[in-house]
Amino acid sequence: MPNLDLFFNPRAIAVVGASRTPGKIGYTILENLKMTYKGKIYPINLEATEIMGLNAYPSVLNIEEPVDLAVIAVPAEKVKYVVLECIKKKIKACCIISSGFSEIGQKEREIELQKISKGKIDIIGPNCLGVYSKNLDMLFLSRDRFKRPSEGNISFISQSGAVGSALIDMIGFEGIGISRFISYGNALDIGEIELIDYLGKDTGTRAIAMYIENIKDGLEFIKVASKVSKIKPLVALKAGKTKKGQEACMSHTGALAGPANVYSSAFKQAGVIEAKTSEELFDMAKSLAYQPIMADNKIAVITDGGGFGVLAADAAVEFGLELPALTPESLKPLRSAMPAHGITANPVDVTGDASDERFKRVLDIVFRDRNISGVIAIVLPQIPALTEGIVDILRDCKLYGKPYVVCMSGGAWTQEKARKLESFGVPVYPTPERAAKALAALYEYGKIVKGK
Ligand code: ACO
Repeated sequence: MPNLDLFFNPRAIAVVGASRTPGKIGYTILENLKMTYKGKIYPINLEATEIMGLNAYPSVLNIEEPVDLAVIAVPAEKVKYVVLECIKKKIKACCIISSGFSEIGQKEREIELQKISKGKIDIIGPNCLGVYSKNLDMLFLSRDRFKRPSEGNISFISQSGAVGSALIDMIGFEGIGISRFISYGNALDIGEIELIDYLGKDTGTRAIAMYIENIKDGLEFIKVASKVSKIKPLVALKAGKTKKGQEACMSHTGALAGPANVYSSAFKQAGVIEAKTSEELFDMAKSLAYQPIMADNKIAVITDGGGFGVLAADAAVEFGLELPALTPESLKPLRSAMPAHGITANPVDVTGDASDERFKRVLDIVFRDRNISGVIAIVLPQIPALTEGIVDILRDCKLYGKPYVVCMSGGAWTQEKARKLESFGVPVYPTPERAAKALAALYEYGKIVKGK
């Protein structure tokens, strides 16, 4: 496997195609790198001697110091010559952002690059956004329009730059943290296999989410993913499931997408959890990154709104979970923690007049119940007796050591509470169905780890 560390922790970076003109891709890449990367940056521009206060050079060959990584953003027909210069300069890694390769039928450009680079330089791309982490941001998307997510434990690899960046933008808005994001485009060299292998060993990554159009080498993928999925969860969204979708993949990344059922069974074999939608991809990645695995499928639903309890129960059962009765030892204290109109069956309904204190007592009883291995807490914080304190109560449920997810449905005021709770690493979902799916992923991953 190649040494991908040069992509994530380079000692110096050259940006070939660094532009003097705001609004151009090579300008934004340089701007974002300058804002985040602490090492030395060398803008490469045929005409400029200085860009953004940095000394610029006409070629990487004019730099005297060693360079680990080149980011290439020049028109496709020039990329080959730039790569040859990078090889001559002994640069070992490059990200080719430029489009104009197999996605437009120019496969021979990629074949030529494969030939000249083999064993000399590792390539991410072409036709990609490259890599992103808090300390190395080469995305050509301005920070005014795309707020970067906070630092977290999910890493995301995506064949599509647009899907990847839009999802990152969205989850950043939701408050979920990201460790690394890699948009690898046409994958002429480094693809999902090498990236999974690398992220499997990366201490900052607790769960790996993937957007995949095609897999280069199915057997190798199964081999590497099987090894990694035992250590950390992998969640994949396969795009191009229909004939039309497959045609679109071809003109997007030049990918031969292949039949969906073949991918589903490969994922199963490799211990990769398959997401059906982009929403599911991150819902599951979020619970998998921030919660322990679930010992079995026995869960409790606690709610302050009866209808939401019903929806959660339906969804949980659909996703393979069970809602057993609580033990007799729990029922007595549960009864005394609630008014006569409270429901002690599972779902437990603390009802619309619940206070922080009532929720706290009920959560304590249910989390300690030996029949229960995981919890969905549905908290509609709009009810009158709840205060801001409910967020701390839900945060502290981590101390029970059992997996749980929270559902908070509602508008801006409710979402503010949800974001606060997520900032403590508790996964929160806006609907009971999404919460149930996310909890079910913890059971599914438990089976993968146990080899069942
Ligand atoms: N060496 C050094 N500098 C060079 C070289 C070279 N060989 N060639 C060009 N330059 C300089 C230019 O002078 C220019 O600088 P300037 O603006 O200061 O004059 C700068 O590098 C850029 O070169 P241009 O020829 O102006 O190229 P342009 O910026 O128009 O386009 C680009 C280059 C952005 C790589 C384009 O070809 C391209 O591929 N665009 C699409 C990128 C894309 O979408 N990628 C996929 C992303 S994933 C997704 O789905 C979102």
